[in-house]
Amino acid sequence: MQTRKLGKNGPEVSTIGLGCMGMSDLYGNADRMESIATIHEAIDKGVTLFDTGDFYGMGHNELLLKEALKGTKRDKAFISVKTGVLRSPDGGWIGMDNRPQAIKNALAYTLQRLGTDYIDLYQPARVDPNVPIEETIGAMADLVTQGYVKHIGLSEANAETVRKAHAVHPISWLQIEYSLFSRGIEAEILPTLRELGISLSAYGVLSRGLLSGKWRKERQAQIDFRSFAPRFMGENLDQNLALVEALRQIAVEKQTTVAQLAIGWVLAQGDDIIPLIGARKRSHLEDAFAAVNLELTQSDLERIEAAVPADKVAGTRYAKEQMGMLGVE
Ligand SMILES: NC(=O)c1ccc[n+]([C@@H]2O[C@H](COP(=O)([O-])OP(=O)(O)OC[C@H]3O[C@@H](n4cnc5c(N)ncnc54)[C@H](OP(=O)(O)O)[C@@H]3O)[C@@H](O)[C@H]2O)c1
Repeated sequence: MQTRKLGKNGPEVSTIGLGCMGMSDLYGNADRMESIATIHEAIDKGVTLFDTGDFYGMGHNELLLKEALKGTKRDKAFISVKTGVLRSPDGGWIGMDNRPQAIKNALAYTLQRLGTDYIDLYQPARVDPNVPIEETIGAMADLVTQGYVKHIGLSEANAETVRKAHAVHPISWLQIEYSLFSRGIEAEILPTLRELGISLSAYGVLSRGLLSGKWRKERQAQIDFRSFAPRFMGENLDQNLALVEALRQIAVEKQTTVAQLAIGWVLAQGDDIIPLIGARKRSHLEDAFAAVNLELTQSDLERIEAAVPADKVAGTRYAKEQMGMLGVE
């Protein structure tokens, strides 16, 4: 596994990270043993970056990660945690709280659940409209000073927020959706990150499975995040799956898979981009590992972009209420 540098001064993390969210939340029931086996397989293949959130399964994801990382030397895993999103006991989404005292309280519980005395990167999952970003990042900076947190990140923040936060404490990465289907960050956010020397932690690289090349229309019937995601609905889904088929033609010619092309395209957009792969099964990780070594020429990249024109992707990446919580669109 190759590595990529976080921000201007590092540290180095594996070129791809494993996103653990689906192992506890949002994508329907997960097989616990297979989830743990997937984390182990990732470690065996040299993945060091693991992304979680304290609200993924209301603590379930952190506990799962703790179990899976048992026996792994602490400095061999780079653990990224998101916080600030509020859940109800029945799993409902009930807002956010990024006040300094809430952030410090949340970290206290996270450290217990992960069984560690520090985490590598801490970030608010969303920008709280009721709390100035300077206060949230200020609280995280206190946690850095106290040794509980090594690096600070942001998630789904706009360029202006990134600048404000970076002025309080160096921001190591912005985690945000970026894929062939979600290119909205290219106009302003990505140039801002590059100007400031901040890395990009790209999630949804497979557009929640749409760009895996294995999504079938009939899977719509399952009730999970995708049942409410506009890109997976009705005619939008038909249009988006037609784009995937165009991509498949290139994949067949290059003797690779649609998923590898989608991940490879993101990897090719710059060494400052670290894709998170949301796989819960070992078999799904294989595409990600192969994508790291996939060679795409300039002409391949142009053909891929022509097959999936950004303005032909149908539907927003979240449902309307959730779109309102993004700092970006
Ligand atoms: N900051 C944020 O707001 C935010 C939001 C969402 C996610 N994230 C982070 O980013 C991570 C990844 O994002 P994501 O899971 O939403 O998106 P993703 O990686 O685009 O999609 C994950 C989906 O693709 C499927 N998949 C992965 N590899 C596959 C393959 N080779 N063939 C077929 N299907 C494949 C997975 O199936 P299986 O699950 O069955 O393996 C899962 O259903 C999350 O785990 C989380 O850590 C952050």
